[in-house]
Amino acid sequence: MRKRLILGLSLACLQLSAFAAAYKEQTVMIATANPANSQHDIAIQGIKKYLEEKSGGAITVKVFLNGTMGDEQANVKQLRTNELQIATVFTGNIAPSAPILNILTLPYLFPDPSDAANLLKNKDFTSKLAEIVVSQNRTRPLGWILGGYRHITNAKHAITKMSDLQGLKLRVSPSVTQLEVFRAWGIEPHPMAWAEVFNALQQGVIDGQENPFFTIRDNKFWEVQKYVTELHYMLWTGGIAVSEIWYQRLDPDTKALVEEAVASGQDTEWKWVADQEDLCKQLAIDHGMTVNPLEDEPAWVEKARAIWPKFYDLIGNQEMIQQALDIIKSGGK
Ligand code: MLT
Repeated sequence: MRKRLILGLSLACLQLSAFAAAYKEQTVMIATANPANSQHDIAIQGIKKYLEEKSGGAITVKVFLNGTMGDEQANVKQLRTNELQIATVFTGNIAPSAPILNILTLPYLFPDPSDAANLLKNKDFTSKLAEIVVSQNRTRPLGWILGGYRHITNAKHAITKMSDLQGLKLRVSPSVTQLEVFRAWGIEPHPMAWAEVFNALQQGVIDGQENPFFTIRDNKFWEVQKYVTELHYMLWTGGIAVSEIWYQRLDPDTKALVEEAVASGQDTEWKWVADQEDLCKQLAIDHGMTVNPLEDEPAWVEKARAIWPKFYDLIGNQEMIQQALDIIKSGGK
């Protein structure tokens, strides 16, 4: 009996070491400029768990939260040089170095909250997109994370119609589509790195910004902002981007494991995100924020849709814009 137990244990150990030996020991560094429990972190924790468990401990994942590796554009640069292996980044912060991604930030591309998921689960679309991003900035969006619509917050007054924007200093990301859409709505927005936004709001350098209810919750924007205006011009999407240098150096087994881990992190985040928006909105209200709808939304839509042609040359791929529209129209079928 004892002999059989020892034999059984030795076999199990042998199998375990054979399993672990399939993956080279390495440390993978993953960063986000966002805090614990943000949609970024939910995806990252899913990736970490998968990589560490399935590699039998051969891969160790180090996570850097809260911008400890710099803001999102710094993270994109670090991916390009393989200082970081994975980062989750808002699409508008990758787009300055990968113009094809401006497709996803075209204002009012997504009329329904489910449209971003429908588009980004389409493998044909996302694979083509990924290859173009690689050719443009040497990072690869291997997966995608979702948030809700980007709403405007500010500390000065309720915005219920377009003319209420006048006089407000509003921050946007450096995405050209965001800059142009606010110009079309009549104000000059202030592009600023994400990591600087909370302090700038606190110090009154800017009056407001735009981001989904998730972000309002994760960053406790109610401490520095009073009014939210529900706008539906852009669904928050973010790339789970990997360093292309690193990815191409991985042996086939590890590469497959990384792909599975990212898919698993994406899946975890998509499930988590589904019921979060209402909770985050309620939390903002509970913390004293006033949430207003727009009285003149058709005018916002009309002005925003009119700027699309300005980006066709920059995006440089009319077929992919059309493909995105077709997928969205068909509800992802
Ligand atoms: C931004 O406004 O820069 C982003 O939406 C922040 C984020 O990554 O969540």
